[in-house]
Amino acid sequence: MSYYIAVDIVRHDEKLLIEAFNNLGINVNIVKVDSELLPLTDGRVLNNSVVLIRPLSAYNAIYSAIAFESMGALTINSSRALYVCNDKLLTYSYLIKEGLRIPKTYIALSSLAIKQAPTKLGFPLIDKPPVGSWGRLVSYVRDYIDLKIVSEHREFMDFVVRTHILQEVIGLGKDIRCIVVGDDVLGCMLRKASDSSEWRSNVALGGSVEAYPLDEELRELAIKASRAVGAEVAGVDLLVGDGYYVNEVNGVPEFKGFIKATGVKVHEHIVKYLVSILRR
Ligand SMILES: Nc1ncnc2c1ncn2[C@@H]1O[C@H](COP(=O)(O)OP(=O)(O)OP(=O)(O)O)[C@@H](O)[C@H]1O
Ligand SMILES: [Mg+2]
Repeated sequence: MSYYIAVDIVRHDEKLLIEAFNNLGINVNIVKVDSELLPLTDGRVLNNSVVLIRPLSAYNAIYSAIAFESMGALTINSSRALYVCNDKLLTYSYLIKEGLRIPKTYIALSSLAIKQAPTKLGFPLIDKPPVGSWGRLVSYVRDYIDLKIVSEHREFMDFVVRTHILQEVIGLGKDIRCIVVGDDVLGCMLRKASDSSEWRSNVALGGSVEAYPLDEELRELAIKASRAVGAEVAGVDLLVGDGYYVNEVNGVPEFKGFIKATGVKVHEHIVKYLVSILRR
């Protein structure tokens, strides 16, 4: 049985994961996926191996998972789950199929289509691209002037961010992050935007975190959402309005802030889960 962690940058989270392996007396191999060639066809076999996929870059995560899977290793998460999680629209399609509630959402594929969004959603509305993280390009649109600016700016960017997700505003300035590992929900935390000039609750944008009580409804929702996208280790993000709305599922969840808020040692749970799936 062999254990691997695929990384590009070794953050505090990855150091904790390595420590958790060491505490169990297990040797773990760290693979810097961005500094070596990853084989698809040279016959390298990684049977009875599990690889925790942790690169910061979403594409490094997806493509390194593909390489490890082609060698026969189990990957957590799978390339397929990571691919779905990376794309908010793909994620929504899987969530909707499983009957999970997401904010009222439209897709606009052109600047002509965007103009029609307010007739469906009113103002204010949220505009975001399908791919992105840490709140980048997620826009709060107050009126037709904002909408025109967002539309014009994105026309000058890469193809993938020229697609617009247009969405109703749900519970501005806060969201809930629950962490799922296998069949367990480790807990939830409330993230709040840093100050009155910031409405996005991302920790990367200075948002604060505090523990949020986990109940049966949240537990069920988090498990259902992670399963919908095929993720075994996941950060499930919920917006709060008249009940919960699933906003996204993260397939490579950061957990430093979660540990600070809840005291739950996520790294230990993840490592125990990896050991348990190889023993099955
Ligand atoms: N429909 C919405 N209503 C209210 N707030 C929203 C909505 N969509 C996004 N937000 C706010 O903006 C923040 C960033 O948006 P979102 O989570 O969709 O993208 P992201 O954080 O860039 O992606 P990732 O979490 O993968 O890094 C959310 O945490 C939330 O605070
Ligand atoms: Mg987010």
